[in-house]
Amino acid sequence: MLILGIESTAHTLGIGIAGRRGKNAVVLSNEIAKYPSTRRGYLPRKLADFHAKNFPLVLKKALAKARCTLSQIDAIAFSRGPGIGHCLNAGFTAAHALSIFIDKPLVPVNHAIAHCTAVKMPAGAKDPLVVYVSGGNTQIFYREQGRFRVIGETLDIGIGNFLDQLGRTLELDPPDAVGVLLEAQKTKNLVELPYVVKGMSTSYAGMLTFIQRMHSTHPGISKQDLCYSGQETAFAALCEASERALLHSGKKELLLCGGNARNRRLQEMMSLVAQSHGAKFIAGPDALLGDNGAMIALTAIAMIESKTPLPPAMPVQDLRVDGEKIPYW
Ligand code: FE2
Repeated sequence: MLILGIESTAHTLGIGIAGRRGKNAVVLSNEIAKYPSTRRGYLPRKLADFHAKNFPLVLKKALAKARCTLSQIDAIAFSRGPGIGHCLNAGFTAAHALSIFIDKPLVPVNHAIAHCTAVKMPAGAKDPLVVYVSGGNTQIFYREQGRFRVIGETLDIGIGNFLDQLGRTLELDPPDAVGVLLEAQKTKNLVELPYVVKGMSTSYAGMLTFIQRMHSTHPGISKQDLCYSGQETAFAALCEASERALLHSGKKELLLCGGNARNRRLQEMMSLVAQSHGAKFIAGPDALLGDNGAMIALTAIAMIESKTPLPPAMPVQDLRVDGEKIPYW
């Protein structure tokens, strides 16, 4: 079985091809084109134009790397949501057209479920507590009665959005979470910041406002100190909530996924949480953590093999991770 997965929920267009080699699901190619970070954020219409324009080239690269042709593909999978409407529609339209062209089924995949499934499958994890961190989402969940149960999540913005906006406020290069990480690595000067943990849920908007005000009223505090303090405090809040969730759920595996899971400092902190309670820490390779097409293809393989009833093939902007059955988990 060869599945072509299309990811287009936000600023990244990803096309990946995955298949089975014996018992193992393998990624044969995983190509991306990412809209560059800007100091003014993103215009959805421009992101969708970028995806449409780059689709042919990324598709060509994915097929060439996997050494296959479109006629050998058994199904086209696409990101159904959650995501930005314009971007989701660009990916869906391309996926729909391809499936008609090669006369193969269309598999709608939940983007959030794909993030954790693509890390769980190759790691061989059994029943982990999932900490999902990205621009739009920060959630803590695990499997219960055939679907995910979210026991903690951000009450306002995602941790990635917090870091991206911090990067823009401080006019970093790049003006996003990567810029914050690079600046944070230059100091160990921790400025005390207010943070919110309510049960197993977190909040980051207040901390962002506090740092923005501090930046304009305390010119003596360096950008590096603000980046280090913002990152450390936000991650510590999430670790506190995750530790509580780990103990509450009694899980023996802690799986970190999503684009911001590539942050080595977050990996280090979260692995300490797992380690201190005898749980195994799992984070996949970087290529499967950020938005990518292979995670959509891998999840589609799991859905097809487990005969999971397919949801309607239409994009849904506010799709939840806990809204559908996951017999393959
Ligand atoms: Fe994502």
